[in-house]
Amino acid sequence: MVEECFNVRQGVLHVENVSCLELVKKYGTPLYVTSMKALNSNMDSYFRAFEKANFKVRFLYAVKANNNLTLLKLIARKGFGADVFSDGELYMALLSGFEKSYVLFNGNSKSDEEIKMGVEAGVPFSVDSIDELYAISQIARDLNREVKIAFRINPDISPETHPKIATGLKTSKFGIPWKDAVSAYELAVKCPNVRVSGIHCHIGSQITDTTPFVEAIERMFEVAEEVEKLGADLDFIDIGGGLGIDYEGKGVPAVEDFADRIIPAFEKGLEKIKSQPELWIEPGRSIVGNTTILLTRVNAVKKAYRNFVAVDAGFNLLIRPAMYDAYHRVAVANKMDRPPEEVYTVVGPICESGDILAKDRKLPKIEKGDIIAVFDTGAYGFSMSSQYNGRRRCAELLVNGEKVYVTRERERYSDLIANQIVPAELF
Ligand code: LLP
Repeated sequence: MVEECFNVRQGVLHVENVSCLELVKKYGTPLYVTSMKALNSNMDSYFRAFEKANFKVRFLYAVKANNNLTLLKLIARKGFGADVFSDGELYMALLSGFEKSYVLFNGNSKSDEEIKMGVEAGVPFSVDSIDELYAISQIARDLNREVKIAFRINPDISPETHPKIATGLKTSKFGIPWKDAVSAYELAVKCPNVRVSGIHCHIGSQITDTTPFVEAIERMFEVAEEVEKLGADLDFIDIGGGLGIDYEGKGVPAVEDFADRIIPAFEKGLEKIKSQPELWIEPGRSIVGNTTILLTRVNAVKKAYRNFVAVDAGFNLLIRPAMYDAYHRVAVANKMDRPPEEVYTVVGPICESGDILAKDRKLPKIEKGDIIAVFDTGAYGFSMSSQYNGRRRCAELLVNGEKVYVTRERERYSDLIANQIVPAELF
């Protein structure tokens, strides 16, 4: 179980068998630390939950959630495919050994250069517009290749989540409105060097109700019936990612509950069509989210309008609270056995008032030098980090039992000025 991967011994938070205090002593702060056992456990739960399906299922890990190369390689080795959303993510996925036929090139605004890279790599595409369809066809023709495509369909489904991460509403920028899906496929079946191979949707992220996924599947099969009439044989129906995780400890559906809703809905859909498409799912957060903590040191405690705890990680390293008002549990890693005493607001070192990691949390008495652990930071943490305010990105570690691997070094000052060219003639 993932919870056991983060355990307390003599009042100190441990990742598997390693003390967080030892880690910060050796590697400094801030520091992202991932438990390998937690990662494996999350992946296993997907395989286990979908074992009972009587159709083929493939999981395509959403690289955007966390693109640490070591994690990508572990995920690829386990037999996952990948959802990539840019040329850079495609590059990292190919480098990590994901099987090409299960690397889906997503994206609503692909440049011709990106399309060329994907066509040359021989990966399937999720196509977001008719302009993109024509561009793929033309580029594939120039390169004498055939490209497998699905359209990203916007199913107009409104899951309960933060508006900034609901992607399947009719107002969202993603996909072809589902009412226009059939006319898009009509064009695609006539396009040279393009083979209609699937249907794709993604309704949003951090979704904690399984019903919207069932609705999306029903809609995808309505489209599938019509697409088959055009003579296409479907290899896959991809329902995207989006299953939420339990940030607040309030209880959310587990992967098994998700599978128990998805499998019957998919089976019912299959009865309506002739082809035998695989079910593709693109989980990101539910694979990596709870595998990782962010360790950050207290630089100052200050009683002002609030009881502020100023730490050395801010929205440069974890933007989710500032961007989506996201809740992340926090704890004092060196005082895990002390009772909560005071209400604190944990803020970062960035020169912006919005740089708040955790608001009004009751925690043990905090002093300068304490280590705060921010939980569930494996998804959209480091991958959304920046160097704002001239802050170097921190190191990332992977823990496996007693073993500690540095999977990314802390950036150097020279990384802050990398690729800059100061015109010599000006000085
Ligand atoms: N597939 C597609 C096409 C996606 O757009 C996404 C996420 C996923 C899969 C993976 O979704 P997941 O299983 O991780 O929910 N930065 C935001 C989340 C943005 C999600 C964007 N798309 C956050 O920190 O909450």
